[in-house]
Amino acid sequence: MQAITIDALNPQSRFVLTNMPRPTLNAGEVLINIKAFSINPMDVAAKLGLLGSPFSDNWSFPLVLGWDMAGVIVAVGDGVTDYQVGDRVFGGLPSNHAGNNGSYAEFCVTPTTELAKTPAALSDAQAAALPIAGMTAYQAITESLNVQPGQKLLIQGGAGGVGSLAVQLAKLRGAYVAATAGPAHTQLLQALGVDQVIDYHQVQPADVLHDYDGVFDTVGDIDGGLATLKPTGKLITVAAQPTAAQLAQPQSVAFQFTHGTTAMLDALAKHLADGALTQPIETLPFSAASVQAAQERVAGRHVTGKLVITH
Ligand SMILES: NC(=O)c1ccc[n+]([C@@H]2O[C@H](COP(=O)([O-])OP(=O)(O)OC[C@H]3O[C@@H](n4cnc5c(N)ncnc54)[C@H](OP(=O)(O)O)[C@@H]3O)[C@@H](O)[C@H]2O)c1
Repeated sequence: MQAITIDALNPQSRFVLTNMPRPTLNAGEVLINIKAFSINPMDVAAKLGLLGSPFSDNWSFPLVLGWDMAGVIVAVGDGVTDYQVGDRVFGGLPSNHAGNNGSYAEFCVTPTTELAKTPAALSDAQAAALPIAGMTAYQAITESLNVQPGQKLLIQGGAGGVGSLAVQLAKLRGAYVAATAGPAHTQLLQALGVDQVIDYHQVQPADVLHDYDGVFDTVGDIDGGLATLKPTGKLITVAAQPTAAQLAQPQSVAFQFTHGTTAMLDALAKHLADGALTQPIETLPFSAASVQAAQERVAGRHVTGKLVITH
């Protein structure tokens, strides 16, 4: 199969197109012909050598990175009863996938517990954009923060992969939503239903927001978020480890490790298919140059929604 690989984990290494054997199918897994995959900040961290165990435990070179994907099942392993050859699916690879089994390739194998079926109304590119960003937003809004109707919620980084879905999920739960973004993203966030867009280049959130019930931090600005919260408020971050001083504040502060499920993927895909959610995506064709460019743009931290590579 064709895969897009790197030979070392450092800023200088370049993505190249490589021919390599398909990964081996094991019991409980399916073999997927990948139609689209998306790029996440964790892929960038992986390339820089910043992801340790368990992520890198089974890696070898040339290394195929990538977790999110959508495609079609071409073979099923022993014991698989709920999926068949020909099913359109989307989801992820295990955190500790083998070095030849990332999503930047033509084929991957993954346990069915990592997957959901792609609704007919969704393209492979739309489905491939959902898994990590969607499940992170979904867990934060519906579980970690358990957002309730009428609550005031700040989402820091409203235009990114996670933030653009989180603002909409919070609106679906009836919250009043403020979100930070650069000026290029004001109109997008208004179109996604955000009640108050804050240009963080001009204004600190706490200059204009007070006594908020919750903060979802996707950029690593815990102090900025805490300053907007009422004493009983709650901050969930996915982008920085809280310090002892931050944890000692009267407000609740916690880092969310995302644990996605098929039920979350199903719920997100249903919302996208019926129009309750929209996800900004930009597609690029399958090539080493596309992956190189997409990784560099995600590393730059100003993408709109998700970058998706399509076969
Ligand atoms: N803990 C977990 O389980 C977990 C899971 C998934 C992701 N993450 C982490 O969550 C973070 C967000 O992921 P993502 O996929 O959403 O990233 P992303 O798509 O790369 O986010 C990019 C967005 O961040 C915004 N941004 C950058 N600096 C900002 C600032 N200072 N204030 C407000 N907005 C800012 C940009 O908006 P502008 O262009 O408008 O500035 C851009 O739209 C990453 O750090 C990722 O590693 C953690």
